[in-house]
Amino acid sequence: MNSTHLASTPTTTIPEIEEFDQIRERLLSHLDGIVPRFEIELHVPKIRRIQELKVAQNAIILGHNYQVPEIFHGIADITGDSLALAREAARAETERIVFCGVHFMAETAKILNPEKRVLLSNLEAGCSLAESITAEDVRQLKAQYPGVPVVNYVNTSAAVKAESDYCCTSSNALQVVEAIDSDRILFLPDEYLTRNTQALTKKELIPWPGRCMVHEVFQASTLEAHRQQFPGIEILAHPECSPEVVAEADFTGSTSAMIDRVADSSADRVMLVTECGMSDNIRNRFPEKEFTTPCTVCPHMKRIDLDNIIEALEKDQYPIEVNPEIAQRARLALERMLEIG
Ligand code: 13P
Ligand code: SF4
Repeated sequence: MNSTHLASTPTTTIPEIEEFDQIRERLLSHLDGIVPRFEIELHVPKIRRIQELKVAQNAIILGHNYQVPEIFHGIADITGDSLALAREAARAETERIVFCGVHFMAETAKILNPEKRVLLSNLEAGCSLAESITAEDVRQLKAQYPGVPVVNYVNTSAAVKAESDYCCTSSNALQVVEAIDSDRILFLPDEYLTRNTQALTKKELIPWPGRCMVHEVFQASTLEAHRQQFPGIEILAHPECSPEVVAEADFTGSTSAMIDRVADSSADRVMLVTECGMSDNIRNRFPEKEFTTPCTVCPHMKRIDLDNIIEALEKDQYPIEVNPEIAQRARLALERMLEIG
């Protein structure tokens, strides 16, 4: 098994093929009281089938922190935020990478490790940020701001990445901005990530009006109300939230940085202002803490499930392909990011 332990992310270390009882026990140890027992029973044979197929197909499974618990705890060899998973994809040695996340993440894996067959089990797993901007939009901005370097969030298509000088993720946005030798940067396409990063740098960041459909709905007033109701609560927000929400939070960071912060926090109650599935994935690690989550689901992340993963492995579908010329330019922007941090 190609499990890799990432210091900042919980990694599922599982034997290659487990007995049904072992799978059941493992799921219960993570999910008892979080997922109903009858659902756990339904997952057991599917997880066993995926384990058999992974061996037969020489596949590794990467799972984003927003994936459902039966994927996160049941079948993912490696879990993490988009930066950690991009790094893992780049060094994966198996023939296949099954990406349990959304399309731009699988595309990034393919760009960074083009020899591998990267499978996404549902091609409709998209992203509202990736859909907010096209390569032509970026070309027009470059014409409008000649010579200004372009940073694109990793939540973009390969064609948009190809128009960029650098990529960034939510965990290294500020680092990338500070590493660039320019006082003005086109920082695309998440308006809120741009404004939140702008608050931390003296450089001028030129935004684009893209939004994450999950994080844009959170309101600062909800956070305030929770603080009043639960004095001592620690509030953690993803940087795709509005600056007003971020200002009301105690901590802002990527999905994995939020998990690390929960581990370090002495608060008895934490509020995760992000996709609400993440709390279920980590609740068992922190049994002494109460989790509060304003529940907003990413419908794209939830398009991946055990059934379509079985089908993907059985039928070897759906392979991610990227035009080689676009991939080459996009790889440069991604590799520059990975060198920075
Ligand atoms: P992270 O890089 O923090 O995991 O975020 C990815 C994402 O899509 C958040 O909405
Ligand atoms: Fe995209 Fe938002 Fe879903 Fe993340 S949570 S994949 S940014 S739509």
